Amino acid sequence: MKKVTKAVFPVAGLGSRFLPATKASPKEMMPIVDKPLIQYAVEEAVAAGVTDLVFITGRSKRAIEDHFDKAYELETELEMRGKMELLKIVRDTVPAHVNCIYIRQAEALGLGHAVLCAAPVVGEEPFAVLLADDLLDGQGDLPVMRQMVDVYNYNRCSVLGVMNVDREQTKHYGVVSTERDSGEVQRVTGIVEKPKPEEAPSTQAVIGRYILTGRIFDHLRQLKPGAGGELQLTDAIASLLQEEAVLAYQFKGVRYDCGSKLGYLQATVELGLKHPEVGVEFAAFLASRGS
Ligand code: G1P
Repeated sequence: MKKVTKAVFPVAGLGSRFLPATKASPKEMMPIVDKPLIQYAVEEAVAAGVTDLVFITGRSKRAIEDHFDKAYELETELEMRGKMELLKIVRDTVPAHVNCIYIRQAEALGLGHAVLCAAPVVGEEPFAVLLADDLLDGQGDLPVMRQMVDVYNYNRCSVLGVMNVDREQTKHYGVVSTERDSGEVQRVTGIVEKPKPEEAPSTQAVIGRYILTGRIFDHLRQLKPGAGGELQLTDAIASLLQEEAVLAYQFKGVRYDCGSKLGYLQATVELGLKHPEVGVEFAAFLASRGS
């Protein structure tokens, strides 16, 4: 029984929606309160049993590698000053049993191409894909990727994280059609990338969480440019489901679209309110402004 032990993080994107903040530093390093977006995604994957993190990087993404590396000078300094709590936070960025692997995507040809770059490391195994832009707060502290691995372990086929969106929003997402209209886990019958509202097969949108079988790579290799002229992961999934079952899973939790300014601010407020150090004072501050 093959387990999901590898996760792919496509992090080569430009982050143009957050310029100038992303001019010289990666959008995945933007913090929500005190943790960069990419670390939320990594923690979600590790909590789901992942031990190999495969980052598909590009130019100007060195900060991500440094973030998950050992920080000798900083650790020595914190140790000397007796700041043991901070030292633990710095050391726990990645647990000791977890490997970080970096692959450069020389050209930004699309999400499908980014995932294909992971093929030499992933091989035939099932693997997870997490888009750090989508910050997911799992219900009852059960991380969404953990929920999806459970669905995978039971069904042994690809699983897509989906949520319902307003019909006008379908043009921003991969949208699935399924055998039934409702239900937590449904078999996918079709998937299209960024359909116009009037053409969308449903309002069930794929958010940035996938578990895919190794078969996806053959389909990715045969891809032709799709929506926006890019090699789309969605198109490879459409081709995969001609061959094997793909499931849509209505995850339990809240999703923040941190690829947009509004979603980023919403995540900052909600996670700020939950934060053990500042949550209470932050709530008082918000209340004092009548918001
Ligand atoms: C990507 C995928 C899309 C998916 C979305 C989720 O689009 O191509 O299918 O629904 O992520 O966030 P992007 O937001 O990178 O344009």
